[in-house]
Amino acid sequence: EMDPQERAFQERVDTGQKIEPKEWMPEGYRKTLIRQISQHAHSEIVGQLPEGNWITRAPTLERKAILLAKVQDEAGHGLYLYCAAETLGISRDEMYEQLHSGKAKYSSIFNYPTLTWADIGAIGWLVDGAAIMNQVPLQRCSYGPYSRAMIRICKEESFHQRQGFDVLMKMAKGTPAQKAMVQDALNRWWWPSLMMFGPSDDASVHSAQSMAWKIKQNSNDELRQKFVDQTVPQAEYLGLTVPDPDLKWNEEKGGYDFGEPDWEEFFNVIAGNGPCNAERLNARKQAWEDGAWFRDGLTAHAAKAADRRAA
Ligand code: ACO
Repeated sequence: EMDPQERAFQERVDTGQKIEPKEWMPEGYRKTLIRQISQHAHSEIVGQLPEGNWITRAPTLERKAILLAKVQDEAGHGLYLYCAAETLGISRDEMYEQLHSGKAKYSSIFNYPTLTWADIGAIGWLVDGAAIMNQVPLQRCSYGPYSRAMIRICKEESFHQRQGFDVLMKMAKGTPAQKAMVQDALNRWWWPSLMMFGPSDDASVHSAQSMAWKIKQNSNDELRQKFVDQTVPQAEYLGLTVPDPDLKWNEEKGGYDFGEPDWEEFFNVIAGNGPCNAERLNARKQAWEDGAWFRDGLTAHAAKAADRRAA
């Protein structure tokens, strides 16, 4: 039998009411949200690294200004999401600690390298495209602060997706070398993008409970299917070949059949062994250590100001 407090909570969730920070909630609900929101925040912050890598090498001043704005947006999303997680009773320092120690994950996708300018287009088109597919339903998440944060974030992600597609449109109409660069980027980013949605439904440990709590609205496989259905025609429009021999339109289901991502690779990457995991984590730890003098200065200043007020 469910306890009455928990039953009342579930009824509020079932009838679409938002849960707000100071209200009663099951411990598991709080923990799940802290896990998901903090991992989402870490993903936004770590996600600046592969693209930041190209700011100094953008091909034109205009492309540079756009990329700079996009990377700054990601920083904003991260800070926004850390604030949303803080409303659940975890501090920012604790979240950073969990990232730096490897206890908290961040999206698998950011452990792949950005080798060419076409990768910047592919990240916008595919990675931000997948992020939107996953985040639009999160705007209806039962937890108020997370759902509201998602509204602005989704608007900005749409701009990111369009700028990526625009980069690729330009290159796809370019020289044979540029076209080859775009195809190569799709070849390398396609499967990791499908993996962003998480393991297949039968291997997704958190989905059932998260869906009952309306933290998640859709299963990982549902969103992956929607992403493939939306993206394949866009690849065709760019004149590209999706690197999946099993990809085939299925008239009956009104969607594509497609191959199985390499789940061994996925689990290997989220266990910390992807191509760039060490580099990404080291960059974050280094940034934390480099900022120590500034945090110390702020603390010392606050202590002096408090002493002056007390005197
Ligand atoms: N990368 C890293 N870890 C992942 C990924 C992924 N792509 N997919 C699943 N995992 C992890 C889960 O975090 C979980 O590990 P944990 O228990 O240590 O937290 C484990 O794999 C099992 O997966 P699920 O049971 O399916 O986990 P969950 O229900 O949390 O679903 C999902 C995963 C879909 C990523 C969900 O957490 C979510 O929607 N998060 C919010 C969106 C987000 O984080 N986006 C970040 C990338 S987009 C961007 O920032 C641009």
